[in-house]
Amino acid sequence: MNFPLLNATCTSAEWGTPYYDVTIKFDAQSIRARGLLMSSHKITVSVIKADVGSYPGHGTVHPKQMEVARDSLEVAKKQGLLIDYFVTHAGDDLELIMTHRRGENDSKIHELAWSTFKEVTEKVSKPLKLYGAGQDLLAEAFSGNVKGMGPGVAEMEFEERRSDPLLVFMADKTEPGAWNLPLFRIFADPFNTAGLIIDPALHGGFTFEILDVMEDQSVRIRCPEETYDLLALIGTSARYVISKIYRNDGMPAAAASTSRLSLIAGRYVGKDDPVCIVRAQHGLPAVGEVLEPFAFPHLVAGWMRGSHHGPLMPVSIADTQNRVTRFDGPPRVVGAGFQISDGRLVGPADMFGDPAFDRARQVANEITDYMRRHGPFMPHRLGPEEMEYTTLPEVLEKLKTRFKKEQVAATAA
Ligand code: F6R
Ligand code: MG
Ligand code: MG
Repeated sequence: MNFPLLNATCTSAEWGTPYYDVTIKFDAQSIRARGLLMSSHKITVSVIKADVGSYPGHGTVHPKQMEVARDSLEVAKKQGLLIDYFVTHAGDDLELIMTHRRGENDSKIHELAWSTFKEVTEKVSKPLKLYGAGQDLLAEAFSGNVKGMGPGVAEMEFEERRSDPLLVFMADKTEPGAWNLPLFRIFADPFNTAGLIIDPALHGGFTFEILDVMEDQSVRIRCPEETYDLLALIGTSARYVISKIYRNDGMPAAAASTSRLSLIAGRYVGKDDPVCIVRAQHGLPAVGEVLEPFAFPHLVAGWMRGSHHGPLMPVSIADTQNRVTRFDGPPRVVGAGFQISDGRLVGPADMFGDPAFDRARQVANEITDYMRRHGPFMPHRLGPEEMEYTTLPEVLEKLKTRFKKEQVAATAA
């Protein structure tokens, strides 16, 4: 049966949220229906971060910076752009955790993050003369998407489940490849994740999207079938970084930031200090399986002057642990745990603020002592390929003219 349509409009309210207005003629009456037109009931979690200044030196974010960021996101929440937000920091990186229904790479959400970082820089970092005020804002003006402009971005759009636990990991003094080892262990290593063996919902495995940051191209690798291919790539963590993970039936499971600041700026501008979102439970790895790899403080690149290998130390979000000190480090990761409830962020729980991670911190401190004793020698200091993106080449340049060709010894007549 066909009903004559009297009128139908789809338009945009403030912030561009679409709504519909339809009138249908039914017998002698007409029925009018109006409402929000969501592309779906999907929720998007956007974690966008930047170092816009810190104290002392590259140590930690100032409480005033967090306050200004919160005020900015509160306005966006009141206007309906955001459903919810949480502002925190990892060492000297300001972290905006936001939920909304606008999907990934949305220009309004990215613009909100960009203008928030700008505002924090102008209102707090510059007046307080914080160190490196606005350092990660590499572009003059916002142009549609913060990717490639300095800030790091991890985003995931998904259908909210009946109960949806979500963990956000935020690292300081390291690079996106730091997630390769823990993400592999969470989603592909049965010695870490018991569910890969025991739970039929996980047994089908996961697909990893890998970005080649040098060539700007990506590839999807399906596990467990292609586990060795995956490891062949992601073992080179400075170049091949995990950007997304999906359960093999398509369910989004994890997303990580992949930007390499030095590749954007063409010079050393600090490490990228990546973020990562992982969903957990009920057909995905359990929260404890997600946290387990961080009990091993594996070696990552970053630390002092972005030029050294050191252990990734899991620390509490609480201020005493969440600021770098020794040799500007060691590199560290904080974890915030939430339940998503109709897009609201219930939490956070301080995932590494637990005595169960004391031993990992102790091991990380032992590794710190051991690595530091190498001073300027590799493998503590990064290899020549990675050092190309630091200030070392300027030093080597000075010595260039002093090199003399070795004379080949005259052979005896
Ligand atoms: C590493 C980092 C710090 C600085 C170091 C020197 O990502 O941010 O280790 O590289 O403190 O900083 P500048 O050159 O600003 O004195
Ligand atoms: Mg800094
Ligand atoms: Mg940092």
